[in-house]
Amino acid sequence: TLNQQYEEKVRPCIDLIDSLRSLGVEKDLALPAIAVIGDQSSGKSSVLEALSGVALPRGSGIVTRCPLELKMKRKKEGEEWTGRISYQGHEEEIEDPTTVDKKIEEAQNEMAGVGVGISDELISLAIASPEVPDLTLIDLPGIARVAVKGQPEDIGDQIKRLIQKFITKQETISLVVVPCNVDIATTEALKMAQQVDPEGERTLGILTKPDLVDKGTEENVLEIVHNEVIHLNKGYMIVRCRGQKEITEKVSLTEALEKEEMFFKDHPYFHTLYSEGHATVPKLAEKLTLELVNHIERSLPRLEEQIEDKLAQTQAELDRYGNGPPSDMAERLIFLIDEVTAFTQDAINLTSGEELNCGE
Ligand code: GDP
Ligand code: NA
Ligand code: MG
Repeated sequence: TLNQQYEEKVRPCIDLIDSLRSLGVEKDLALPAIAVIGDQSSGKSSVLEALSGVALPRGSGIVTRCPLELKMKRKKEGEEWTGRISYQGHEEEIEDPTTVDKKIEEAQNEMAGVGVGISDELISLAIASPEVPDLTLIDLPGIARVAVKGQPEDIGDQIKRLIQKFITKQETISLVVVPCNVDIATTEALKMAQQVDPEGERTLGILTKPDLVDKGTEENVLEIVHNEVIHLNKGYMIVRCRGQKEITEKVSLTEALEKEEMFFKDHPYFHTLYSEGHATVPKLAEKLTLELVNHIERSLPRLEEQIEDKLAQTQAELDRYGNGPPSDMAERLIFLIDEVTAFTQDAINLTSGEELNCGE
């Protein structure tokens, strides 16, 4: 069955990459990942919240100040929610899902300083629950156009460099978040993705805020999602998340999903996107999990190559150190004398070489 296939294939693939990443392998090798990018306030955090079911830090300005790796693991029905945050050697269980945003803020203050600075260091948040998809996503700071008080002048460039670091890698799928009420052609994040991936082989567009679309431009949105405006091989999805008013009114994430479904079903233009499977957060989750697994499968040969290269390099380096000291004390003394003699001989050769040079 489909479910069995899923259990046999999806989880092992994602677990393999997650465990490599937690071993710190990413310093040496590029691991398959999905990075979420977009201009500030485009709706990145809202999409991540809707996918993960937990509230993330929000507000105006740069709220995401460090790359945040969100590892989601689907549990069996009835099993309880667990959470864990780790960064720079710090590791902590999270008991209460409603404290996740506070924990992330603490982590960011620790890594990037209190205030408005950014950092390249990764914060990792692992969530397991029956409600989340099997997916690992990396949230990146939003592209800011102008620096605010207390920020370095070049904050925009700093953020772009950080984003580039992630999306340049062949192993990264870029999720570009674009609101329906802005001109997609002027979106900085999409331009950046196109620079490193001109065909859109590993770029997926996500349109947000369909409820705020300007009257009379609905047809344009249909064309974008139908991949007729800026073509991406991976195409587009459209989602509706909670607006500011719904957050103030404490509409839950579960309620928001129901409202989203009704919104698309009833919409005079966008109902077609719903029936085509291009719309809603659950459909997006499904698509992303499949994309990630396909991507991991395609990346594995390259990963293996990289591991073999690295192994050969390390072996060559190791060979240069010879056999190293023996364990037996007496042999160790002989080894030490040999090494010192060899060293002294080298020093003598070097000095006489210099003398020769002087003589010339
Ligand atoms: P980020 O800066 O890219 O992370 O953007 P946020 O997720 O913080 O969203 C910015 C604002 O847009 C927030 O006030 C959200 O409530 C609002 N927002 C996000 N998605 C939608 C949507 O689909 N519809 C409406 N009306 N508002 C949305
Ligand atoms: Na924001
Ligand atoms: Mg955000």
